[in-house]
Amino acid sequence: MSDLFNAIEKALLATSCDETIQMTRRAFELSANSQPCVDLSDRVVKPISLVNFPDKPLCVPPRELPRRRLGTDAGKRSFIHAIAHIEFNAIKLALDIAYRFKGLPEQFYRDWVYVANDECKHFLLLCEHLKNYDCEYGDIPSHDGLWSMAVKTDNDILARLSLVPRYLEARGLDVTPGMLDKLKAQKDVASAAILEIILEDEVTHVEYGTKWLDFVCKQNNVQREDVFFENIDHYLKGQILGPFNRPLRLRAGFTESELATLESKDKRHSR
Ligand SMILES: [Fe+2]
Ligand SMILES: [Fe+2]
Repeated sequence: MSDLFNAIEKALLATSCDETIQMTRRAFELSANSQPCVDLSDRVVKPISLVNFPDKPLCVPPRELPRRRLGTDAGKRSFIHAIAHIEFNAIKLALDIAYRFKGLPEQFYRDWVYVANDECKHFLLLCEHLKNYDCEYGDIPSHDGLWSMAVKTDNDILARLSLVPRYLEARGLDVTPGMLDKLKAQKDVASAAILEIILEDEVTHVEYGTKWLDFVCKQNNVQREDVFFENIDHYLKGQILGPFNRPLRLRAGFTESELATLESKDKRHSR
């Protein structure tokens, strides 16, 4: 296995945040160094059940999570910790796309390692900010909703690209501007500055989802829109939540027609 895939695998198997970040950065250096990112077809891919996460935070069902009211220090701490948890999961999610799916062009692997490196940056910015609230990552229970989507789609790249970058990450484009408004209204400049960086980077991540879903659909002679909604319907069973941020989603490659279909499926909309 090449150095690049070796580093990606080590980051996925790592049980600590530090090792995950160190190996992700190593993978990023290797991929950005114009080293060939050729995916060897004899590369052995370990099952997704072997991907590791740190012991903390404790994983609990979503209903047992602490409330995240932005008006109090405790609420703000939970809010920032929850986003740090999303970003840590996002590192593993991006790496897993690069690791698990073979035979794609070199740029595919470069793009997802680039995304993983961005997610490290987001995670570290939030960890640093958590110190202002006497908190470190792992202190507050969290849930594994994001990773469970990777597990469900571990043998289907069309499903993975539809559900992870184009559904889970795209949801961030919808909800982050509202969070930013609240933070700015509270004059929480430090938290808002971090979320602004994250939001801008996430547009690119979703755009990569669009780009590669397009590519694999063309390879398979199927329509992207059909594939996207088949997977959305199959995996989410109608749990589609809007409202959707049209300008950001358009920048990330969603078409007007995809947005119209999403809006028609939005549970709140149709209530
Ligand atoms: Fe991120
Ligand atoms: Fe992302």
